[in-house]
Amino acid sequence: MLMSNIDTEVLAVDAIHPEIAKIERAAALIRSGEVVVFPTETVYGLGADALKPRAVKRIFIAKGRPLSDPLIVHIADERALAELVADIPVQVHQLVRAFWPGPLTLILPRRPLVPALVTAGLNTVAVRIPRHPVALALIRAAGTPIAAPSANRFMHVSPTTAQHALADLNGRVPLILDSGPCEVGVESTVLDLCSTVPTILRPGGVGLEELRAVLPDVRLPLQEKNNVQRVDNACLEAQRAPGQLLTHYAPTVPLLLFEGTLEEMHAAMLAEVRRRSERRERVGILVADEDVATFQDSGAMVHTLGSAAAPEQVAAALFAGLRALETAGIEVILCRGFDEYGLGRAIRDRLLRAAAGKVFKHPHLP
Ligand code: TXA
Ligand code: MG
Repeated sequence: MLMSNIDTEVLAVDAIHPEIAKIERAAALIRSGEVVVFPTETVYGLGADALKPRAVKRIFIAKGRPLSDPLIVHIADERALAELVADIPVQVHQLVRAFWPGPLTLILPRRPLVPALVTAGLNTVAVRIPRHPVALALIRAAGTPIAAPSANRFMHVSPTTAQHALADLNGRVPLILDSGPCEVGVESTVLDLCSTVPTILRPGGVGLEELRAVLPDVRLPLQEKNNVQRVDNACLEAQRAPGQLLTHYAPTVPLLLFEGTLEEMHAAMLAEVRRRSERRERVGILVADEDVATFQDSGAMVHTLGSAAAPEQVAAALFAGLRALETAGIEVILCRGFDEYGLGRAIRDRLLRAAAGKVFKHPHLP
């Protein structure tokens, strides 16, 4: 297909003081209607000129993403908002002051200037100001808003390094700006300001508690709870068919998510490792530093995400951990659960999607 045999160049760019000449090269590609992979503080993005439908189309082709999934428009300053958004609700200014630049995406009524391709035909548009110096420099140099989804192939986990993006998009994009690992590691929080009550459509880099400190009536969608299926029999194979709202990341290796107290998770996961080892299955374990000793001699490949008491560490390491285990030649990933506070909500959301909505609990627990 179109764009599947381009030479992909990976260009190292200083994350704090981006070199002007390198940014200018990437910006020239954007202005000419091409796509470029660039770092943001959350994950790497696959960007194109948001105001040129033909450029935006290239994003969907490179990712293999269906046109029905709308994109986030990245801007460098608040002034650009007025060009894209028809009507700016009063809460926006408080939110912008508190969280921009940063990992918060706002859903707002769109102006006709925004191509329908960007918004999948919706009358709303998703906008954010990222806080990564390379992203900001690129948007400014391009002189246009940049539409960008995460720079992964459709249904794969988001990239938090340039190497992840290269693994997914090699031969499909001309340029990847490499500024090292992303600071936050999970995608931005998507907040809908067009519904009657401000609603979080995707938990992310800004926590619910932080948002409520600025906007007390922010709510989570009601469906969320009904979408989680509790599974008591840990012997069951992980089902691959994702539920309706869980059609995001599907790992190439099935993932089983365990929740409960630390003792309960450890007992259930060790029992599962034993069962599978007897069947000669190669098992990967995704845990925190606090769990490593428990699984050291279990025979499974152990990958730690940092301290469970530091969700920012776990978030930053999560997608790299999933990719590391995916490529390690194992057959199943067992993952521990994390507390749902602050960034923990986004961590649990991504893990639940990877687990197709199933949570394993210790069989003897209520
Ligand atoms: O951190 C991030 O948000 C990264 C970086 C690159 O900025 N981007 C990202 O984009 O994660 P993407 O396309 O992978 O996810 C965008 C999410 C999708 O869930 C999409 O459905 C939602 O935002 N979205 C975009 N426009 C929307 C709209 N008008 N209404 C509702 N949801 C929208
Ligand atoms: Mg994505």
